[in-house]
Amino acid sequence: MTDALLEKLVLAAKEARSHAYAPYSHYHVGAAIATKSGQLFAGCNVENASYGAGVCAERNTIGQMVAAGATEPTVCVVVTKGALAGSPCGICRQVLSEFAREMRIVLIAANDAGEEAMRRETTLTALLPDAFDGSAL
Ligand code: THU
Repeated sequence: MTDALLEKLVLAAKEARSHAYAPYSHYHVGAAIATKSGQLFAGCNVENASYGAGVCAERNTIGQMVAAGATEPTVCVVVTKGALAGSPCGICRQVLSEFAREMRIVLIAANDAGEEAMRRETTLTALLPDAFDGSAL
């Protein structure tokens, strides 16, 4: 992926985060996924008064991708608030891994103006080694 496309993906995640519905945790998360064919999808966390019904930004973004008929994510950007870039939760790692065993993961901490306090990069296999997949079923 070119640097320009990555920055477009980062902007999409920041924009999605501005729409996060997180009245309970106040932890706003935005995510954006690029696919092999260059399509971009974004999503945010959506919480619920019944706490367990809330959904993370990464999983909502995977839902956008699948609904559009795309299935090959190559890069996932996650934008969180504060000084430290948050890492995807275990359930989101598993859901990402359903569609690509390996993927670039870019984690960013930014304020509401989009100014970044931290950006770091990892991979899905580093976050979820020895993943469970459908071949075991
Ligand atoms: N959250 C995400 O959106 N992604 C993650 O990977 C970690 C957690 C959300 C869920 C909840 O709405 C809030 O952050 C606090 O846990």
